[in-house]
This record gives sequence, C-alpha cells and structure tokens, in this order.
Amino acid sequence: MKNNSVYQALTQGLPSEQAKRLFHGRGGLFDGWQQVNIEIYPPVLWVIVYQQIDEQPLLEMLEQVKNNSEALGVQHIYIQRRFQAGNPVQVFMGDESMLEVDFKVSEAGLNYWVNLGKNQNSGLFLDMSEGRAWVQKYCPGKSVLNLFSYTCSLGVAAAAGSARSVMNVDMAKAAIKRGQQNLTLNDLGARSVSFIAQDIFKMVKKINQRGPFDLLIADPPSFQSRAFDVRRDYQKLLEKFKPALAEDATLMLCLNSPALGVDFIHALVAQVLPEATFVERLANPAVLADANEDASLKVLIYKMGIKA
Ligand SMILES: C[S@@+](CC[C@H](N)C(=O)[O-])C[C@H]1O[C@@H](n2cnc3c(N)ncnc32)[C@H](O)[C@@H]1O
Repeated sequence: MKNNSVYQALTQGLPSEQAKRLFHGRGGLFDGWQQVNIEIYPPVLWVIVYQQIDEQPLLEMLEQVKNNSEALGVQHIYIQRRFQAGNPVQVFMGDESMLEVDFKVSEAGLNYWVNLGKNQNSGLFLDMSEGRAWVQKYCPGKSVLNLFSYTCSLGVAAAAGSARSVMNVDMAKAAIKRGQQNLTLNDLGARSVSFIAQDIFKMVKKINQRGPFDLLIADPPSFQSRAFDVRRDYQKLLEKFKPALAEDATLMLCLNSPALGVDFIHALVAQVLPEATFVERLANPAVLADANEDASLKVLIYKMGIKA
C-alpha cells in the first residue's frame, strides 16, 4: 500500500477538535500497515506500533504530516511502540509537553481526561465511540450496570443520557478515580452514579442486590491474566449477573477479540439467557473497517423477555 493512500486516509479526518481514531491499520485493509493505528487527541497525533516492522514508510508518511502540521492542526506527533518493554514513546514532532500529563479531550459533546505515555492506554478507548453514542441515546430513565468500566466513559455517556442510576465497576482503582473525575468534568457529579473499585466476581452478591438493572454493559478485556479470560469467564459473567437483570433488561455485550466472532457471544447468550433475543450489532466507526468484520470490535445488543 502506497504511503499516499495512508496519508489520505489519515488526514481526511483532520483537523479535528474531537479525539478519534484516524487510521486503523489493524483492520488489515492497508497492506504492510497491519501493525499501526493512529489517533488524534488534539493537538497530539498518537501513533501506536504493535509489532516490530520496517518503519521507513511510516516515518516518511509522518514526515509529510509534519510538513503540513499547521493546516492539519497537529502540534505534536508521538509514537508508542507496544512491542518494546514498557511501551516507550518517541517524540517525533513537537515536544514532550503533552506527554505524561493529564489533558482534556472531547467527543460528541462530552469531555474526558486522557494521559498519553503514562500507561499503555490513554484513558479513553476511541474505538468505543459508537457504543457511547448508543448508550447516551438509550439511557433516559434507565438503571445501568457498567461492568469493566475502566475510566467510566460509558457510565459518563449514560449519566449524560439522563440514566436514572449508573453503577460503574472496575478492579483498577486509578481507572475508577479517573471515572469520578470524568463525571465531574462533565458537570454530572450530582447524578445518581456509583463507583466500585473491585473485581466484579468478588462483588456478585452486592451488585445483584443493587439491581434490578435495565441495562447491563459488559466490556471486558479479551485476556487479562487471572482477572478475566473471555473464553473462560464470559459465560460465568452472564450466569453470575443474571439475577441483576430486570425482566425486560437490555444487554450490551462487547467482545474485542479478533479470534472470536459474533457466534461466540450468540452461543453463550442462547445457553445462559435463553429468554434473550438478539437485537442488533452496533456499527463500528467507519474508520474501523476490517478485512474480516467478524474479527473487529463486536458490540452486541440483546433484550430479555421478548421471545414469542
Ligand atoms: C477494555 S477495558 C474496558 C473499557 C471500558 N468499558 C471503556 O469503554 O472505556 C477492560 C477493563 O476491565 C477491567 N477488568 C478486567 N478484569 C476485571 C475483573 N475481573 N473485575 C473488574 N474489572 C476487571 C480492567 O481493569 C479494565 O479497566
């Protein structure tokens, strides 16, 4: 794939005031670029290289961005190399001033804190933007359980969508703290939103007692040593939290594992929640187009209790 087509794909989304994924090489549609994703956290262009590759085409393409940086609204270009221990970040353009500092970005009218370079992830998963939009629209008056909430972006979207209540649960204390800050950042602090920093499987009884929930969101990691393994634990998750569901609850079940397709979740739901009906798969942002749609992010909506 010529650098030029990647440059065009990348820059058609620039300049941008919103944080978003700009280029998704992981989708496999750009030959030779499968190990590169590029995002904009204005004014930082954030380049992630997942595996060691010949970086010459990438560096040449970034040189082009650098030459047009003013028109593209890019002040810094950082390259994070995930295949190296500690995910080191190179400052390709600009300076270090936006590295390892908290700054605000916006998406669809909501604001979030991010930090580039401190951790592997920024604090906001940009591939979930359509999920957040769906949640915000779906939530008025609903009680929401947001499992694996991370920095609670889906919980913020729910609160912004006038959910009646939102419970965010994640075992990472720092992520939950950031979730509280994200809520405050959007002036949603007074809503009925709770935060639990704990392993979901250690809180089953307590969480179920706080039900019934109208919407269960589950967005687990595909594999996180000991904490969660999709193949081993997704079924257990549905079994354990089934008692938390309202009779007509909706489920938003996410799966971000290229090796497992939609059928994996369909089969689990059929087994554990036979009373649930599949409603839809949320479309991913167009930029996430994939050579194999079944390998890309799956956000699946099911509804309980509408079987004939
Ligand atoms: C993919 S991220 C979730 C992203 C989030 N839904 C969002 O939209 O930003 C996965 C999260 O699951 C959490 N996690 C993994 N295993 C867990 C467990 N057993 N209990 C609670 N949280 C867990 C991790 O700490 C991590 O924050």
